Formats: sequence, C-alpha cells, structure tokens
Amino acid sequence: MSQPLFKKVAFIGLGLIGSSLARVIIAEKLADQIVASTRSQKTLDDAKALGLIKEGYSNPIDAVQGADLVVLALPVRATQKILETIKPYLSDQTIITDVGSTKGNVVEAAKAVYGENLPAGFVPGHPIAGAEHTGVHAGKVDLFVHHKVILTPLPSSGDWAVNKLIQLWQAAKADVICMDVDKHDEVLAHTSHLPHLMAFNLVEQLASREDNFDIFRYAAGGFRDFSRIAASDPHMWHDIFFANKKAILKAVDGFEKQLATLRQLIEDENSQALMGVLGHAQAARQHFNHMLANKPLMEKNKVTQQFTILPGAKTFQGKFTVPGDKSVSHRSIMFGAIAEGTTRVTGFLEGEDALATLQAFRDMGVSIEGPKNGEVTIHGVGMHGLKAPASALYMGNSGTSMRLLSGMLSAQKFDSVMTGDASLSKRPMERIAQPLRAMGAQIQTTGERGTPPVSMMGGQNLQGIHYDLPMASAQVKSGILLAGLWAKGETSITEPEPTRDHSERMLRAFGYDVKTEGNRISLQGGGKLIGTDIQVPSDISSAAFFMVGAAITEGSDITLEAVGINPTRTGVIEILKQMGADLTVENERIAGGEPIADIRIKGTRTLKGIHMPEDQVPLAIDEFPALFIAAACAEGQTILTGAAELRVKESDRIQVMADGLKTMGIDCTPTDDGIVIEGQGKAGDWSAIFTGGEIESHHDHRIAMSFSMAGLRTSGAIKIVGTETVATSFPTFTELTNQAGLTIQVSE
Ligand code: S3P
Repeated sequence: MSQPLFKKVAFIGLGLIGSSLARVIIAEKLADQIVASTRSQKTLDDAKALGLIKEGYSNPIDAVQGADLVVLALPVRATQKILETIKPYLSDQTIITDVGSTKGNVVEAAKAVYGENLPAGFVPGHPIAGAEHTGVHAGKVDLFVHHKVILTPLPSSGDWAVNKLIQLWQAAKADVICMDVDKHDEVLAHTSHLPHLMAFNLVEQLASREDNFDIFRYAAGGFRDFSRIAASDPHMWHDIFFANKKAILKAVDGFEKQLATLRQLIEDENSQALMGVLGHAQAARQHFNHMLANKPLMEKNKVTQQFTILPGAKTFQGKFTVPGDKSVSHRSIMFGAIAEGTTRVTGFLEGEDALATLQAFRDMGVSIEGPKNGEVTIHGVGMHGLKAPASALYMGNSGTSMRLLSGMLSAQKFDSVMTGDASLSKRPMERIAQPLRAMGAQIQTTGERGTPPVSMMGGQNLQGIHYDLPMASAQVKSGILLAGLWAKGETSITEPEPTRDHSERMLRAFGYDVKTEGNRISLQGGGKLIGTDIQVPSDISSAAFFMVGAAITEGSDITLEAVGINPTRTGVIEILKQMGADLTVENERIAGGEPIADIRIKGTRTLKGIHMPEDQVPLAIDEFPALFIAAACAEGQTILTGAAELRVKESDRIQVMADGLKTMGIDCTPTDDGIVIEGQGKAGDWSAIFTGGEIESHHDHRIAMSFSMAGLRTSGAIKIVGTETVATSFPTFTELTNQAGLTIQVSE
C-alpha cells in the first residue's frame, strides 16, 4: 500500500472546519495519526468518542511534537500566541497552515514570531465553506466538496509544502486556488466581509426604529434574504472586520460612492440612468449565475449536455418561426450603442452569443433595456460615449463579437481586453488584428497562432486604409469598417467573393453613408449614427436545419416563416434546389431593410449529389454541416471545394463532420478545403441512411444540430455529446424539433 500523505496531523482547535478536515483525512486515509489540542476538555473527549483523534491534549506543545502537518483551526487572533508556544517544537519539515478568513494578519502574526525568515513549511489557507452550526459535532466529511479553498503561499513557502496541501484539499474534493495574500484579503473584503457588514447594518438600521416590531413582522422576502447573514456570530465578525481593516475600509468607501450615485439618480428622477444601473446589475448577476453554474457561457469544456434520438419512422411537419438572426442581432446592439438617440430592436436573438455582445456594451456603460420577448431598447451614447470596462470583456463562444469589437475597441480612448471560452480561445484573431494595425491600431493577440485574449491599447489615431481581404470573411470586413468609422479619411475593402452585408445595410439604416461598388466597400470616417428601429429577421442559418430535415424525410412539409433571405445568405436555398429539393420561397417582402420570405420545403423526392458551386460557399458558409447531412442522404457523390474557412469555425467543421459521418456509416473523405461524401440515397427509397452511434460535437452548435437531423433517417440511436452550445444560436431548437415530429431527449 502507498504511504499516506502525512504521518501525524495535529489540529490546534477542532471546531466545524477542523473537525470536518479531520473527517476527510480519516475517510481518505491521508494520515497515520491525528491528534488535537483545544482548550475545552469536552471537545477533546467528544472528538475521541467520535473516533476523530487518537489523542487530545490541553497543551498544544504535546500535540505538535513529531507532527508533519499542523493545522491552526482556531480564531485568527490567537495565531501569534500559539505560534510562539509551538515554534521550538516544530521541525524544518513541518507544514503549518491555517483556515482563517483573513490572511494578511496571519502572516503578520507569523512575522512577529519568526521575523522575516518564515519557515518554508508555512502556507496560510482559507477554505470558503461554513454551516449554520459550529463545533466538533457539526463537522461533515463533505463540507468542502466543490467549495473553493484558497491557499496563499508566501515567497518563503516551499513547493513541497504547497503541493502537499493542494493534495490534501483536493482529497476533500475542494477546488483549490492559489492567490497572493493581499489579493485574497481584497477579494474577500468585497465578496464576504462587505456583504456581512451591510447585512448587520441594515438589520441594525431597522431594529433601532421605534416601529421595529411592525417592520420585522411585515418584512417581506427582500429583507429576509438580505439579512440572513446578520445572524452570524458577532465575535467572529468583530474579529474579521478588524483583521481585514484596510481592505474592508476600501470596500466600504466604494459602497458609499455607489450608493450616493443611486441616491442622486432617484432624487433627480433620472429614469434612463437608473434603468442603466439596475439593468447592468441584473445582467451581471445573471452572468455570475452562469459562471457559478459553469454554464456554456463561461466554460464549455466542463459542461456536458447531450442529445439522444431514437430510431423509428418520423414525420416532420408544421409552420415554425425560428429565432432572430445572429449576425443582425449582434450588429443591432453594436450600432445602437454608438448611435445618437434610442434604438428599438424587435426579434432579437436571445442566444448566448448575442447576449455576450449585449453584456459587453453594458460593461462599457451603455444603458440597455431587455431583452424581453425579443425586444431590446438601447440608449445610444454616440461615437465618443463608450466607457472603459472595469475588467476584461467576456465574449463566450462568439467569434463575431470578438472580431467586430476588435475594430471598434481599437479606435476608443481606453484600453481593453477581450477573452472567450475554450472554443473561441483557439480561433484565429490575427486576420482582423493585421489590417487594424495597418490603420494604426495597437492590438495584440496571444501565442504563436494569434488567438484570444486580444488586447487593444486606447488613444490611437486611426488612419483609413484600403485593404484587399485575403479571405471571404464578413467578420473581418465588418471589423475594419467599424474601425473606419473613427479613422481619418476613407476606409475601403475589396472582398474576394461577396460575404454577408448586414453591416453595410445596417450602417445605412443608421444614417451612415457606405458605398458598395462591385466588390469594393467604402466609408468615410468621422460621421455619426442616428438611433433607429431594427426588426431582426428569423435566422436562415437556423432555418437551414429544418430545411434539410424536411428535404430528407418522406412526406414532410415544413414552412419557416419570415426568414431573412438577404442574397448574401441564401446559398443554402440555391444548393438544396440544385440537389433537387422541393423548396419554394413564398411571400417575399422587406422588413427593417432586409428581405424576408416564408420558405416551404417538402419531402417529395430523393436529393441528388452535386459538385457544390464554389461561388455559393461564402453565401452558405454556416450551413455546410447541415448540407453534409443532406448529401449523405442524396443519391450519388457530393463534392465540396473552396471551403477551407470551415476549418476555423467554432470547430474544424470539415474534420468533425467527417468523423461523425463515418461513425454513422457514411463513406466520406475530408480534403484541405472541402469534403467528398458518398451519398447513400436511392431514388424513391426513404429508408434509414444512418446507422446511429455516438457523435462528438466538439461543443459546436451547428454540428450538434446537423447530426440531430440525421435522427430523421437513422436505424440506430444517435447520441450527440457536447450539445449545450446550441443555446448560443438557437435556444428553442429542441422545442421546435419536438413539435415538428423529431423527438430529441436532452440530458445533462
Ligand atoms: C458572421 C460571419 C461568418 C459566419 C459567422 C457570422 C458575421 O464568419 O460564419 O457565423 O456575423 O459576420 P466569417 O466572417 O469568419 O466567415
């Protein structure tokens, strides 16, 4: 058997935290022996009776002799005295740690005993866990599970000691974080100490009123929620408030300032600014919920959601309105924010990508109401009104947000940084950084591959340039055009092939003159945008899944209403028609400057394989994963070329689709810039095409939704893992497929 982590562990103090850690050490067999010293003989007797310790001592000297780990689990103010007492009995190899909620004063206490030469084994710590009850009986072996434990190693701390403590706390299933002492005290002052102080303060304010009895009796949920922590132990909090005095006073100053601002807004009846503050706080709190829940918005790799689709004949029918266009939703927020006056958006996509953009502008001081049922009101701040964000802007999964904002932020007076999730952090950002540098921007990407985080240095004077786009990318085009709004003179771009032109159209809708002459797009810097109303059409990229689903299912009849059919986006319609799909575009009309129509598609004939036309590639760039599913069901071979861009989307869509198709029994060959798919369809035969199997979506929403459609023609169950990102672009996806007749079971 392997050696336990420690030979002898000595606890000085054995309350809730100490006795819980002792329980972990026993359960995980981390030490040969545990002893303790406390002032209360009863605690020692109880601990022995509970089987937590081998010996209990009233004198700490007896406990620490021969110990290789000493845990100070007693009030922080007692640290200095205890260290003085035990110092002569500790060896160089003894690890000394503590569990107090403030760290600066623990280090001070140690310095008072040891001078500047602190022992290498001394590593202060702070498990952020607690419970209403205290004492040796209240301890629980799972008290630290999924709780944070902060270790604050000092320059004097030995790696060996830090590593052993990390192992100890990981054995308790805690998330261990190492942090600088001052940082710890500052963070805790804001996240724990200030909220406790405010709770004590509010209860005291109400309790000292003459009518306090009535106030308490009628106190509604708000008071109860807010004041819960004022029932905490006053002795402990008395000590903490003094122990972390410096950081707490700073946090109180910040609180007073913020409260005074709110007070003034109420006094002035400044409705717009008050909504701005409240809306920002509410959104930040939701964002924070996402973070705590480890939801996709924060870190996809840790979340596991999966779709399961069972085999069996299915219908696929109905009239549906898919959610708003992602590209248009992003731009409505960006342009509305820098416009003068108010912009009202309807049909906004409440998916995580567009919400990341919305949050970024709130973080830059823009007052935004909503989204509520697709409605958003943006109170524009004008071309020079954005404010420096307090911290890095988090773009989640969204490449569009990051590339477009690179252009916008490069032109601001302030510095900024953008980060993203695991998928976005792998995507190329130099493609936008390079042209922006040519305009005079100070922009930096990360690592050899030029990926996020991306940092912009503010206060640069940009100069208009002409740029020949080396790849067909609407994001790069738009990022440059956005920077051009602030640049001197003309900014112009030529694109190798037409790409989506939502930026150009929407800038015009905001009153900004943008010229499109053939493949050349240009604008003059220094103008302004005027707030307007934006109607976001339904997203053709989301509709595409339903179009493909209907095209491959016998007897299907699906109508997708009010879908955006901007000619730079309709490649999927053209390609499906060329494959022989029974597809009609009905009711064409204009809404909010964009053409829309109802798209009806029926499963009446078997598709046929084609060489997909290269000129349609940029116009269908996001729809290829779905089109590959159609190709697998077609009769004959389908060839795609000229689509290397697919390799740098939310995943490498050529490889990931090829892997999934092969798993499901489809013969295909990925190439550098496309794929060859051997279609399994036979004219007039609607039987199953796919074998089923487990598909890895690589947390790419469009991969997950495309393979879901394969569920309409499968002989075996399909399990798709990593589907949580579907919420980035199509939050109602499974709801709508279920209504149409394709049942998708979602499990976490
Ligand atoms: C988008 C442009 C396209 C597309 C993306 C949205 C946009 O990306 O794939 O989903 O809104 O400008 P590229 O510009 O990288 O081709």
